[in-house]
Amino acid sequence: MKTVLVLNGPNLNLLGTREPAVYGSQTLADVEALCAKACAAHGFKLDFRQSNHEGALVDAIQEAGRAQAAGTLAGVVLNAAAYTHTSVALHDAIKGAGVTLIELHISNVHAREAFRHHSYISPVAKAVMAGFGASGYALAIAGLAGLAEPA
Ligand code: DQA
Repeated sequence: MKTVLVLNGPNLNLLGTREPAVYGSQTLADVEALCAKACAAHGFKLDFRQSNHEGALVDAIQEAGRAQAAGTLAGVVLNAAAYTHTSVALHDAIKGAGVTLIELHISNVHAREAFRHHSYISPVAKAVMAGFGASGYALAIAGLAGLAEPA
């Protein structure tokens, strides 16, 4: 059984209380439960993490690249949060690790402030998902399952 790494960046530990009009009322624990259910439905094991630190996210992506090369990881769902719009280090890590990665945002970043319209992640992501709220995580996991199936 392959693992899916769901990796969450800065301030996502505050989900539920942080700007609920934008990010909804579900907590990060609720999101983890939703991901566990989606992974179980698609025959994946879940590795769910959150960090406020850019370097820790880089380390996790490098580790994911090694796991995918070893055949134990199906891919990564990354909500890089604010680092999406600033991090050359995350861009380079994804490219260097050669990992299959879905970029995810709870909100529709393109309908928000201009500084959220540019992503350093999109050019190195397999697919991009934004605006589905917390349920986007389940959709992204289903997307990874679809990628794993023969066309
Ligand atoms: C976010 C969107 C980012 O612009 C923002 O900095 C976040 C969360 C989202 O999930 O909608 O922290 O990635």
